[in-house]
Amino acid sequence: MIDLRSDTVTKPTPGILKAMAEAEVGDDVFSEDPTANAFEKRMAEMFGMEAGLFVPSGTMSNQLCLNVLTRPGDEVIIDETGHVFNYESGAAAHLSSIQLYPLKGVRGKLTPELIKTAIRPRNDWDPHTRVIAIENSTNKGGGAVYTREELLEISNLAVKHGFYLHLDGARIWNAMAAAGIEPEFFGGVADTLSICFSKGLGAPVGSMMLAGADEIRRARRMRKMWGGGMRQIGLLAAAAEYAVDHHQKLLEDDHRRAKKFAQAVAKHPAFNVDLESVETNIVLFDVNEGTAEETLQKFSEAGIGLVPFGPKTIRATFHFQVNDDDLDEVMKGLDNF
Ligand SMILES: Cc1ncc(COP(=O)(O)O)c(C=O)c1O
Repeated sequence: MIDLRSDTVTKPTPGILKAMAEAEVGDDVFSEDPTANAFEKRMAEMFGMEAGLFVPSGTMSNQLCLNVLTRPGDEVIIDETGHVFNYESGAAAHLSSIQLYPLKGVRGKLTPELIKTAIRPRNDWDPHTRVIAIENSTNKGGGAVYTREELLEISNLAVKHGFYLHLDGARIWNAMAAAGIEPEFFGGVADTLSICFSKGLGAPVGSMMLAGADEIRRARRMRKMWGGGMRQIGLLAAAAEYAVDHHQKLLEDDHRRAKKFAQAVAKHPAFNVDLESVETNIVLFDVNEGTAEETLQKFSEAGIGLVPFGPKTIRATFHFQVNDDDLDEVMKGLDNF
């Protein structure tokens, strides 16, 4: 199958496995894993943050960030398509006793004007607006990317009101490639940053929370409490570091393939796609007749894996284990409609 269901489906390459096999390790619960320690330091420096914490998943990273930024009864402003709102099993309510205020942004992106509509007055009976959470690039929003100016505007708004800015950067690597923004910029605008190595970069496991040293100290304790204290994680950190060093440069090819695929879809009478919306490795397109599920079945029979993203909407996600030949096959698969 040519698997475009997600960029999380990649299998470890021989290079990743070799890096894992050669990693120097220690017990990370004792902070003694040299590979993990060095990688956390390197990522923190790279993104202009004080410290980092390697965690098993983007979900844990997002939830740790929200946990250290909030107190029970606080509220987090977020786009209604946000991963934290849709796909984290209601964790913010359960783990941190906070609530989310979802807003209808554009393709998963918030604007200062929109955020202002959700800021609560300071009464005893109001939840306390505490955090603005944004996603870059967006997932359910279709791979949209914030510009430098948009990020600065939101950050300035957060500073003005004394709110924190959390950035879910599960696909920050795609966002950086598309917008040409250097990593250290993000440390200047966000209070907490979650980055993933297991999406387009192709590591088998791993995300990292990046924040101030005090936030990371507190998150380290919560990670242990939530069962995420791990032992010889140098194996995983080495895989993630290999992915950063060797696969980051492949993302632009994923973006090129996504655009080419979208152009073919746009020409096809059975489908509808907004070409302008394709900024990174994700393509959202609609079926004109029937349901997404029926169409997915036909794609599946042609050996192409995609996922539904609404009754009539389908998502295709490109990654480095779908090459140009695979893309040709996928384009041929469109002939089935
Ligand atoms: C935007 C975004 N944030 C967070 C996550 C969570 O990552 P994980 O699956 O590692 O928990 C994902 C997963 O796809 C995502 O797309």
